[in-house]
Amino acid sequence: MRRKLVAANWKMHGSRAVIEELIPAIIEGVGGVSADVAISPPFVYLEAAGRALQGSAIALGAQNVSAEASGAFTGEIAADMLRELACRYVIVGHSERRALFGEDDALVVRKAVQVLRCGMTPVFCVGETLAQREAGATLAVVGSQIGALLGALSSAELLRCVIAYEPVWAIGTGLTATPGQAQEVHAFIRGRCAEQGAADVRILYGGSVKADNAAELFAEPDIDGGLIGGASLNADEFTAICRAAE
Ligand code: PGA
Repeated sequence: MRRKLVAANWKMHGSRAVIEELIPAIIEGVGGVSADVAISPPFVYLEAAGRALQGSAIALGAQNVSAEASGAFTGEIAADMLRELACRYVIVGHSERRALFGEDDALVVRKAVQVLRCGMTPVFCVGETLAQREAGATLAVVGSQIGALLGALSSAELLRCVIAYEPVWAIGTGLTATPGQAQEVHAFIRGRCAEQGAADVRILYGGSVKADNAAELFAEPDIDGGLIGGASLNADEFTAICRAAE
């Protein structure tokens, strides 16, 4: 039985004041929810967010990590450092990192390996652009992104990962994949992982998930929760999404 996971991705939003307001409201709102819940604030707020989450069941996550273990890499953050701050999840290969910061599959896989080495869970993001979907290339694109991960990990390591399918055209646009469109890609990803002995890997959907569309997405057999951007900055909206994962 796969436990549902709802993970917030705050992106480059938030402040100390936001943490002081939003995190207690989320802790209160998700009390008693059986799904796993995680919050990924910007790096500089991880420590404060971790303190605010203490004593709650909500896990701390980071939005990125270096592909290197340590060394002369100015501006980078190592997986060991995130572990030290009690992060449990680390998002790798978000489409914004891929598109705006030139991250390719090889780099993203190296990041996932660092996260696993430190005993945390990589949230490995994949997804096609609108042009790729319109060209009928969705499964080829996602298949090649997933293939890079499968080629580098054992089945035991894969089972310690979370995969997030986030169609690029649905991120922050208000356009959500239909449950059927998402399920098709999730089933495809699960099939690829199953070939490598990891059928039970958790696969999240991300892209304009809101309180009013979460339940129908999470009801699909291969959707194990969501990666939530914009809606995770509103406590009522985010807690309603967590409740939809019950
Ligand atoms: P969104 O972002 O929910 O704002 O579409 C999701 C994500 O980018 O992880």
